[in-house]
Amino acid sequence: MRKHMDLAVVLLFGTMILASASFAQQQALDAEGHPWWQHAVFYEIYPRSFADSNNDGIGDLNGITSKLDYVRKLGVDAIWITPCFPSPQVDFGYDVSDYEAIDPMYGTMADFDRLSAESRKRNIGVILDFVVNHTSDQHKWFLDSKSSKSSAHRDWYIWRDGKGPNQPPNNWTSTFGTAAWTYDAATKQYYYHYFYPQQPDLNWRNAAVEKAMFDTTRFWYKRGVAGFRLDAVDTMYEREDLKDNPAAPGMDKFGRPNTEEKYNKKLPEVHAALRRLRKVADEYNAVLIGETWTSDVSQLKDYYGEHNDELQLPMDLLLNGLPFSPDAYRKHVAAMDSSGRWPVYVISNHDMTRSYTRYADGQHNDEIAKLMAAFYLTLRGTAIMYYGEELGMENNDPKSKDEVQDPVGRLSWPTDKGRDGERTPMQWTSGTNAGFSEHQPWLPVPPSAKRHNVASEEKDPHSVLETYRSILALRHHQPALIEGDYFPLNNDDPNVLAYLRRYKNQEVLVVLNFSGRNQEARIEEAAAGYISLLSSGAKLGPDGYKTILLEPFGFYMARLQK
Ligand code: GLC
Ligand code: CA
Repeated sequence: MRKHMDLAVVLLFGTMILASASFAQQQALDAEGHPWWQHAVFYEIYPRSFADSNNDGIGDLNGITSKLDYVRKLGVDAIWITPCFPSPQVDFGYDVSDYEAIDPMYGTMADFDRLSAESRKRNIGVILDFVVNHTSDQHKWFLDSKSSKSSAHRDWYIWRDGKGPNQPPNNWTSTFGTAAWTYDAATKQYYYHYFYPQQPDLNWRNAAVEKAMFDTTRFWYKRGVAGFRLDAVDTMYEREDLKDNPAAPGMDKFGRPNTEEKYNKKLPEVHAALRRLRKVADEYNAVLIGETWTSDVSQLKDYYGEHNDELQLPMDLLLNGLPFSPDAYRKHVAAMDSSGRWPVYVISNHDMTRSYTRYADGQHNDEIAKLMAAFYLTLRGTAIMYYGEELGMENNDPKSKDEVQDPVGRLSWPTDKGRDGERTPMQWTSGTNAGFSEHQPWLPVPPSAKRHNVASEEKDPHSVLETYRSILALRHHQPALIEGDYFPLNNDDPNVLAYLRRYKNQEVLVVLNFSGRNQEARIEEAAAGYISLLSSGAKLGPDGYKTILLEPFGFYMARLQK
């Protein structure tokens, strides 16, 4: 009896521990001592646009849960859900009015817990988006802050007197095209906002703000989230003395004279705050991903922290801005790879033109999409995909100004059409609204959804989707792709990018034709021949082992026989 009881107690506690341990806590280190997120592929989901379970035209959490098998089969390890918290939706969720709840438009906390539990069952981590720089102007903190100059939350935001009548405190501008200061007639002061006026910047110099925000991360870690993607980290702090930014040449896309954002971005204080936020994350074994816009690798390196004590995964958003050329990629990957930090590659997200559209040549669009996948998903590092990228989803920009939903698109029309184009519904089928919803979706589906959708592409082994699946499967199963070092080959070739990933006695060769012509790549290192792993528009030459014949934008991957 006693024995049985012990067993029952052990079982009971065992289950309790399992149920309360977060995804991150359950992930052991690999043989090389690396944490799970170093090999992971993350998948960004824009919840408004992924799957609509209640047919109101807007995606939701239950929609995401219903597609977790798809996500698992695709071969990604974690999903990053962009903000799904209560929000007036001025910036589609990036204006948060409560950090510790779910917007009813997306579901309930119970729906979130179910999404989280179902993800865990499938070994998929859940990452939430943490909007650190600002809240919504409808957040209770801001409502109180605005209510009077002596309110408890007044100093939680950045309030200042104007320079004079009708004159804002300084010359800073909002990145969304408006002034950076909005006047409040009731308290006769201005508040600062780097983004929309409905997104007032928090004052991180106030310790109470920091504490409240850090507690928010604890709230979600305890609910099992594996980490956060930190929004717009470089804007967290601004100079206290509000020094004017220096003038810069030219005009911006809103027609304003340029200024150099010297005193309201990338302040050293950001790094100190990230180190403190990281300490909290470490208590829960959680991972911090950063939206880190930088101008070069050395700046990006700073976000890891001198002692690797800031962000584990600051995004390399530089890759997507480079020319589509082996030379540019080779240099960038070499710089990233030799930086001594773990690279985080990204080619698309909800703020930039979809990669499919960006690289398309009008003739080989699908081949190019497959080539880009074969490239960035086989590099040493973590990768972050964007939903629909795996289908070859294209941008579907608004056709006229009154169709635009993203306010920034109206302000910068027609120079810039805003971000609606890259946020359209996930394309599940060739049916009505691409199978996203029975209701008209909040953004229109492009005609190309007839061909680029999950159901159709699953039937075609050469589709973009099936190619992504194959690459992701290889990435998880080839030790050289998981752990291997990066060795560039044929450094002078202007058309073909080739490299080895090498781990112990295992080698994977990757050969990528970035040109619209047939190419012949000679791989001298391949003395002992290959075992082909995956290819698209490529084959071995007549000598059987040193030459690879590549069609336009073709690629070839093989294991080298040792
Ligand atoms: C980030 C988000 C973007 C948002 C902005 C303001 O850049 O990715 O979508 O508009 O921050 O929160
Ligand atoms: Ca819905």
